[in-house]
Amino acid sequence: MCGIVGYVGAKRNIPEILLEGLKRLEYRGYDSAGLAIGLDSGMEILKSPGKVKELDRKLKAGWTQDKFKNAKVGIAHTRWATHGPPNEVNAHPHSDSKNRIALVHNGIIDNYSELKARLSSIGIKFKSETDTEVLANLISECYEGDLCSAVAAALKQVTGTYGIAVIAKDQPDKIVVARKGSPIVIGVGDDEAFVASDISPLLPYTKRVIYLDDNDITVLSRSGIDLRNMDNVPVTREIAHIDWDANAAEKDGREHFMLKEIEEQPLAISNTMRGRMDHNLVTAKLDGLNLTPRDIAGVSRIVIAACGTSLHAGMVGEYYFEDLTSTPVEVEQAAEFRYRNPILDRDTLVIAISQSGETADTLAAIREAKQKGALVASICNVVGSTIARETGRGVYLHAGPEIGVASTKAFTCQVATLLMMALKFGRAGRLSRSAGQKIISELEKLPDLVRQVLDSSDKIARIAKKYSSAKDFFYIGRGYLYPVALEGALKLKEISYIHAEGYHAAELKHGPIALLDENVPVLALANNIPGKDKVIGNIQECRARKSPVIATATFGDKDILKHADDVMEIPECSDFVTPIPTVVALQLFAYYVARERGCPIDQPRNLAKSVTVE
Ligand code: G6P
Repeated sequence: MCGIVGYVGAKRNIPEILLEGLKRLEYRGYDSAGLAIGLDSGMEILKSPGKVKELDRKLKAGWTQDKFKNAKVGIAHTRWATHGPPNEVNAHPHSDSKNRIALVHNGIIDNYSELKARLSSIGIKFKSETDTEVLANLISECYEGDLCSAVAAALKQVTGTYGIAVIAKDQPDKIVVARKGSPIVIGVGDDEAFVASDISPLLPYTKRVIYLDDNDITVLSRSGIDLRNMDNVPVTREIAHIDWDANAAEKDGREHFMLKEIEEQPLAISNTMRGRMDHNLVTAKLDGLNLTPRDIAGVSRIVIAACGTSLHAGMVGEYYFEDLTSTPVEVEQAAEFRYRNPILDRDTLVIAISQSGETADTLAAIREAKQKGALVASICNVVGSTIARETGRGVYLHAGPEIGVASTKAFTCQVATLLMMALKFGRAGRLSRSAGQKIISELEKLPDLVRQVLDSSDKIARIAKKYSSAKDFFYIGRGYLYPVALEGALKLKEISYIHAEGYHAAELKHGPIALLDENVPVLALANNIPGKDKVIGNIQECRARKSPVIATATFGDKDILKHADDVMEIPECSDFVTPIPTVVALQLFAYYVARERGCPIDQPRNLAKSVTVE
């Protein structure tokens, strides 16, 4: 979703640093871009619908090298349309009607119509349909020479969410930033400062960052970072040191981030597990959970809340907890959980799963859970993200930055983490030492199992090519592979735009089977796990309706060829780890179908990497 980047200082070329920052935010998903640069002689704002390269072209067309030579401040934005279509007028930065300030904004101002009516009644004219332009005018109305006070005064009148960066024409050496519900990270430099909506644009310049909390407001200038709250009281925030390097966010010669991220899963999973296996006690060391065996014994119920791919990982987790522990588990779509009246108490553990740690619905779910007195933990990838910080206890994936909008390595690392968690909970209860040992040894094989699937990518690419012109697809599975069927179908629809549905293999006959014919392929997950015979039966039902069948099957399964037109082989492994190598085959399948169809794989239309609105 929307991205923010800003810089204040005299050490760098401002247009370049802003464009470079926006490029590093492209993965979040957006549909227009813009920037504002403060000059001694005024303020330049440039915006463009479409991609950052359009903005770059536009800038260079009207740009003389000298123009921005002495610039000391700039802010920029990628917009994912909410209020008004993605065009130049609605793109950020927005300025007020007197052109005194420029503002970039992530989030949604809920009471913008009311504020707009009030501002219109005093003669202010609006150019765009956005809530952000209303905020720009509100700040301008409050501005009497002190930008920070004006921003605070305006934000006090606002309901909704925001991460903002503001500059003023008459103060071309400072940026005021503020946050409520939408992340803002400050990059700490020497005689310079940076701001962004996530750390990726900051990585080439600094590893020292400050995550703003809700209701923080901060003035960035060359001489320092002045952190305050909305009541103008100074606050202190820790400087965090980031160990991701900028190269981790590069494509490494691959055509797409998604392929790079699929291929780096053996390493990502190793990093997730590193130092976390306790061979002596036969358990997992997940210190960040901060739960003693006694605390674990007190947990009478687990609720997993997540969205999208993370929700599918949670569904695999449900099987783990139910197989290895005696604790009942429910998996909830975070958005639905939040608006029901979930029954929670202090013996319920709510686990939020989120790659980004910023998904608005998941965040709202944990806030609800905390308010109702439940224990709350998280599984996040992005260190220091809002969900990770608000839960206080949890497990980081250490999967490295995930840039491709379609989540891949985060899913496999989330599933591995859930298995480690279930192992820990199981060993604090009824799980025997020998059963625990088996899980550890299977977990340790995972990087190699994934490598074996990656080695078969050419074959998967050939199968993908054969089916790339399909208009509809069904994915079916049972048991541990049921959530994998859902995830495989999600990957295909996200990046190839083929309509794909994941179904429990047995449910197919309760309706969707009516849609099957020779034009609707079925991808059946028929590995050797309990329930395989029944999946074979379900495959027959599909073939009887003339659907072509692609199956995943365990290496060496000769029989499967009798039932399927094409086969993707998955290495032999125990049923509880099989979701991981199997999903990798489905990720590759979706990737190659989308590539064949010429789709923009890393930034699919209408999707955002991090969905920060409800
Ligand atoms: C968006 C992304 C999905 C992701 C979901 C949840 O929809 O496009 O890939 O699975 O958000 O994101 P999270 O960061 O909470 O895992």
